Amino acid sequence: MKNIPIILMGCGGVGRQLLHHIVSCRTLHANKGIHLRVAGIFDSKSFLVVPDVSSMEFNDTFLMNICQIKSNGLSLQTCVESGKSEAFSSPESTKKLTDMAARLAFTLVDCSASSETIGAITQAVNLGCCVVLANKKPLTSSMEEFDNLFLQPRRIRHESTVGAGLPIIASLNRIVSSGDTIYRIIGSLSGTLGYVMSEVEDGKPFSEVVKAAQALGYTEPDPRDDLSGMDVARKGLILARLLGHRMDMNSIKIESLYPDKMRPNTMSLKDFLANGLQLLDNDIEERIKKASSNGNVLRYVCVIENSRCNVGIQELPKESALGRLRGSDNVVEIYSRCYKEQPLVIQGAGAGNDTTAAGVLADILDLQDLFT
Ligand SMILES: NC(=O)c1ccc[n+]([C@@H]2O[C@H](COP(=O)([O-])OP(=O)(O)OC[C@H]3O[C@@H](n4cnc5c(N)ncnc54)[C@H](OP(=O)(O)O)[C@@H]3O)[C@@H](O)[C@H]2O)c1
Ligand SMILES: *[C@@H]1O[C@H](CO)[C@@H](O)[C@H](O)[C@H]1NC(C)=O
Repeated sequence: MKNIPIILMGCGGVGRQLLHHIVSCRTLHANKGIHLRVAGIFDSKSFLVVPDVSSMEFNDTFLMNICQIKSNGLSLQTCVESGKSEAFSSPESTKKLTDMAARLAFTLVDCSASSETIGAITQAVNLGCCVVLANKKPLTSSMEEFDNLFLQPRRIRHESTVGAGLPIIASLNRIVSSGDTIYRIIGSLSGTLGYVMSEVEDGKPFSEVVKAAQALGYTEPDPRDDLSGMDVARKGLILARLLGHRMDMNSIKIESLYPDKMRPNTMSLKDFLANGLQLLDNDIEERIKKASSNGNVLRYVCVIENSRCNVGIQELPKESALGRLRGSDNVVEIYSRCYKEQPLVIQGAGAGNDTTAAGVLADILDLQDLFT
């Protein structure tokens, strides 16, 4: 049996779902000769780890207890059981992790939403560990940090950073490594904005659609986090860098769906929802009418073309894959030498704990050959 040690960073919606998937796939993995040995878990405050990382693991009952405790909003610190686990807090936790990485190859899984994990994961991968990311932030900081992280590209997987479990990055990597030139990628990479743009097309006011999306739990607690386009831009940057473009967040043109005067540091969320939002209705309505008179629809997309990446509203043909999009699916169209007239289209749910964690688990399994 091949034993793969796992250290998990982040135990929120995705991290906990990953632990559930790992436990429920025990038989499936055993039939493939693999055992995933979870030996340490981080949250924002602590690092809970087995006393001897080279041989011990958290058993499945303990893992499910951890999920329960974390979903009750408690800290990992409360899970310490003498002889079975110990807890470290920063900066000792980082030192502990690096010491471990120098002695043992494990898979470090970043399911946090933090920009602070980049140092630790870069060190771990350069000490011989593998890294799997659902967290986009380590891939969207400076080009220099990106290069340092990718010194050992074969040890890194990050499928869930764009389109959750959808095989977007795997597909791009296959196209790139076969020498097929990609001319253009255009994608609706936000479930929230996909939903909003298809609903306003039916004539509903923008403000009401955003509020409905918020009530359905489709948006971040402050919908402006989605409407700013920042999250789409991060995904666009990851795709552009995969194509070899050396660019930063500040080289991306991002269209925010609300003006500067309604930014969170200028206007409260309450004021935005009660007064600000409806001031945006007319403009969107005009734009939809104009697009419609051209036989087109509006989509909020990321476009990568001619070494540039733009994020914002575009007019697109009704009958294209993006034009036909309804609801909260993600859709990506890839145009290349092989997919010239008709693009390669990847479509499906692009968010959710379940599919995101499934993408992370598939990445972990994909790295199995690097372990003996
Ligand atoms: N949910 C989705 O649909 C989806 C889709 C694609 C990608 N993602 C990405 O997946 C990641 C996780 O998402 P989520 O929804 O699970 O987020 P979440 O519920 O907010 O969980 C984040 C977890 O990270 C922990 N954390 C914060 N700072 C940390 C640090 N410095 N080191 C280690 N752990 C830290 C938090 O600790 P506490 O428990 O102490 O707060 C929490 O357990 C995010 O980067 C997100 O962008 C999510
Ligand atoms: C993801 O998990 C979090 C935490 O358990 C939960 O609040 C959220 O509703 C879940 N999201 C989805 C789409 O299931």
